[in-house]
Amino acid sequence: MQLEALPTVQGDFNLKNYEEARKTFSWKDAEKNFSWYETGRVNLAYEAIDKHAESSRKNKVALMYLSDSRNEKYTYYEMKRLTNKAANVLKEKAGVKKGDRVFIFMPRSPELYFAMLGAIKLGAIVGPLFEAFMEGAVKDRLEDSEAKVLVTTPDLVGRVPADQLPALETIFVVGGNVKEEGKYADYLKYFNAASDKLEIEWVDREDGLILHYTSGSTGKPKGVLHVHNAMIQHYQTGKWVLDLKEDDIYWCTADPGWVTGTSYGVFAPWLNGATNVVVGGRFSPAAWYNTIERFGVTVWYSAPTSFRMLMGAGNEIINQYDLSTLRHILSVGEPLNPEVIRWGNEVFGLRIHDTWWMTETGAQLICNYPCMDIKPGSMGKPLPGIEAAIVDDQGNPLPPNRMGNLAIKKGWPSMMRAIWNNPQKYESYFFPNGWYVSGDSAYMDEDGYFWFQGRVDDVIMTSGERVGPFEVESKLIEHPAVAEAGVIGKPDPVRGEIIKAFIALRDGYEPSDELKEEIRQFVKKGLAAHAAPREIEFCEKLPKTRSGKIMRRVLKAWELDLPTGDLSTMED
Ligand code: WTA
Repeated sequence: MQLEALPTVQGDFNLKNYEEARKTFSWKDAEKNFSWYETGRVNLAYEAIDKHAESSRKNKVALMYLSDSRNEKYTYYEMKRLTNKAANVLKEKAGVKKGDRVFIFMPRSPELYFAMLGAIKLGAIVGPLFEAFMEGAVKDRLEDSEAKVLVTTPDLVGRVPADQLPALETIFVVGGNVKEEGKYADYLKYFNAASDKLEIEWVDREDGLILHYTSGSTGKPKGVLHVHNAMIQHYQTGKWVLDLKEDDIYWCTADPGWVTGTSYGVFAPWLNGATNVVVGGRFSPAAWYNTIERFGVTVWYSAPTSFRMLMGAGNEIINQYDLSTLRHILSVGEPLNPEVIRWGNEVFGLRIHDTWWMTETGAQLICNYPCMDIKPGSMGKPLPGIEAAIVDDQGNPLPPNRMGNLAIKKGWPSMMRAIWNNPQKYESYFFPNGWYVSGDSAYMDEDGYFWFQGRVDDVIMTSGERVGPFEVESKLIEHPAVAEAGVIGKPDPVRGEIIKAFIALRDGYEPSDELKEEIRQFVKKGLAAHAAPREIEFCEKLPKTRSGKIMRRVLKAWELDLPTGDLSTMED
């Protein structure tokens, strides 16, 4: 069902006329906003920090950080000094050079951001890891990327199997009493002593910037590589989609372990010279509303799961906070329910703007812009400069209102440039005629709005996080009681989907609630809390193809009482 468009909000918007910009804009135009356009010297960290520190924004607050125990502000000038110091630690103590992989495994703190930008200043490729990852997940990523350096904290360092990672030379531990032996080094000791002067390493626009590991439906998580050139799109979407202006106080709720937390928690806001709010700790409605009130947040980027949880917490709590500074709200990660947009309109007096993109695309591609009518439930329209279409399985564009593969014409600035160590996988994303295939199915209506329909593969989106069923199944069968496991996403009103596991037990094991809990904890400890199945169902055996592949669509059909479809490939 299509809902009537809400009236356009009037005002002074960065993108004033969407249709006009789509006709006239070229990515070449955006290059003029960077100092390398004149100087030829490229480094994203220079454009995000140093350039502002050397301008009239010098004393503007770049980072506002709040956690249970800290409340700090840093200007662009201070950010320049502190990221230089971090770079000097990595360079002098660990010998980091251009192209080296520097991984960062820690909760959100100013030190995380200094280290990330410091590594980028050296031309290193940063790999952010979500703090909830357990040993197996950490090892897979450090091993595949052959990370040379890791920056972590005393709480997390125990999850790093240092002796199983030959390429990993230095493990910096930030804070605590660090015993400096073997690979371990006391980060703050070197940081405090480091010089705040640095010669930035100039790079090519196509040199590596960041590696984000993400899940597909098969195999281990894959390393999606982005390059410095992505800054063009981070900057431009910061202008057009986030609508950042000089006085904005911007808050992106995502952790830098996910792409939203880097592209839109680090790069876009700082490339635009904005004041960026970072908050540590767990989600709670009171803490979140408090953040908006306390900092006077004006632009807020979050996810449908969070909005649904806030909606579920009721409107009474909202009245306890002054949220009147908010002027622009955005969402990403999953379909944004029309109901949530209605709620946002009611309680904030603002429309929530949906945006669509992926780890692989590096930046927003299909969005709702402040200057455009919103059709609640639609992801919006392609960014000026982006060609999007619905194509069939051969890559031929389909007419409006036909469901098919959501595809993007290859060549946008922030497109991934490689899957680490896996050129074949990279190639598999593209049709020979130049379309990138997203793995999402969608349709486009006659007005050019795109409507999300689902994933083509089995990837699960739970609370906005992408979980590959294969990864969870692999972990499950490591448990001594588990013979076989099949994992699906089960629709859930708050989390979008929850993870449900069907498990066939080994001989000698009996189903019980204790065993369910034990298995759940096993995945939680081995992989990550968000990857642990919320529901487990024991069964005699699992539906499989004759080649032994677990048929997740059959499990899903069982679960949802749907027709199972073609079973011709199923074993007896
Ligand atoms: C889904 C997150 C519906 C989609 C930045 C995509 C969405 C996957 C939307 C990428 C949206 C993202 N509406 N679905 N607005 N945005 N998705 O790589 O299935 O963690 O392919 O990137 O999230 O997830 P990822």
